Amino acid sequence: MLRTHYSSEITEELNGKKVKVAGWVQEVKDLGGIKFIWIRDREGIVQVTAPKKKVPQEIFKLIPKLNSEDVIVVEGIVNFTPKAKLGFEIIPEKLEVISKAKTPLPLDPTGKVKAELDTRLDNRFMDLRNPRVMSIFKIRSSVFRATREFFYKEGFIEIHTPKIIATATEGGTELFPLKYFENDAFLAQSPQLYKQMMMSTGLDKVFEIGPIFRAEEHNTTRHLNEAWSIDAEMAFIESEEEVMDLLERLILYVINYVRENNEKELKILEFELNEPKKPFPRITYDEALEILSDLGKEIPWGEDIDTEGEKLLGKYMLENEGAELYFIYRYPSEAKPFYIMKYEDKPEVCKAFDLEYRGVEISSGGQREHRHDILVEQIREKGLNPESFEFYLRAFEYGMPPHGGFGLGAERLIMRMLDIGNIREVILFPRDRRRLVP
Ligand code: 4AD
Repeated sequence: MLRTHYSSEITEELNGKKVKVAGWVQEVKDLGGIKFIWIRDREGIVQVTAPKKKVPQEIFKLIPKLNSEDVIVVEGIVNFTPKAKLGFEIIPEKLEVISKAKTPLPLDPTGKVKAELDTRLDNRFMDLRNPRVMSIFKIRSSVFRATREFFYKEGFIEIHTPKIIATATEGGTELFPLKYFENDAFLAQSPQLYKQMMMSTGLDKVFEIGPIFRAEEHNTTRHLNEAWSIDAEMAFIESEEEVMDLLERLILYVINYVRENNEKELKILEFELNEPKKPFPRITYDEALEILSDLGKEIPWGEDIDTEGEKLLGKYMLENEGAELYFIYRYPSEAKPFYIMKYEDKPEVCKAFDLEYRGVEISSGGQREHRHDILVEQIREKGLNPESFEFYLRAFEYGMPPHGGFGLGAERLIMRMLDIGNIREVILFPRDRRRLVP
């Protein structure tokens, strides 16, 4: 390796010892008899101090020729001294320029000079050099790691379902068509049907982390055309509330994991992540409509709660219940997909729920209809043709236990968790209505 230590690994025990550090030139300062370089790596900054009398002449001459963002490797002696801003410096014995950076830069990677989001995304490779931006993606990595850890601890098995599919998952029209040899196919909008089919296999508890593709025309701060979904499905449940319990445990696990493991990144983001109030309040759809009506917003029974309604409710739940996260459940059957189970005694209401995070839906799920004939009927009720669901329905004819699950949007979770205004900030290369490159 070209480096022996990251900036953060240089501790007092290394005082007087030789190290090799590597990274991008953040700044060079030339005070005549003494020159400085600040090198940025993934973990922070290192100061290189070059006093004329103490360093080889070729290094001394090379320093003023360095450009911001050149990649360099410096071998030198660690010197802990209160004179250095970071408490230590490196006195260089060797300096090698590994890769030169062109000027001018398309972006200021320190973030001091502000740029529009579009410019940042066009130059994402450089945007990520900004420690704030990098922190978001370090936290994103933790979110996925914690999610996997959680599911394994809970006895779930990781699955991977196809992303090229022949049928619209939920009957919606929000699909990207593609040519599959001589057939028409689509990019999967959800692993829904496949994860449900796994319930007939005896795997019992499965999860999947994968991309979902939605050909929605929306251009909003919370929609992407390619997003990452955390999906779970479990068998032998007795009610949708068991699925809600699982999702609540997952969210708390993830948030606490980030609180414990990403202190440094949260500090860079100047964000205090608190453990949310638990248990997450659970309000029925009817209760949500009543609250909204009291707030002066009428939603006709049966309709989905729109963005404005969600926002109002989010504010209400925070101010009156101190709750950032809360469930809305017992939705009208007409507002939810065909695979959700209806209440036996009240078929106009179904066993679906949404999880809201300060007024934004981050997940939806429910108990599924596992009885073949009723499921076929529900497909028809939604105006869909059961024949196109043949491959899925077959799994319900040879022994299918009751089951339920959820789909959790990873970007929605991360943006709300860190209170970031635009979903494009939390995915490396967002795909939206206009953006296909980079
Ligand atoms: O609410 P959705 O469409 O539900 C499903 O896909 C069901 N199959 C899930 C289930 O198990 N019943 O999507 C689930 C979540 C949403 O709550 C949202 O967080 C995220 O996926 N999501 C999106 N995120 C970003 N951009 C988009 N266009 C999204 N569409 C859905």
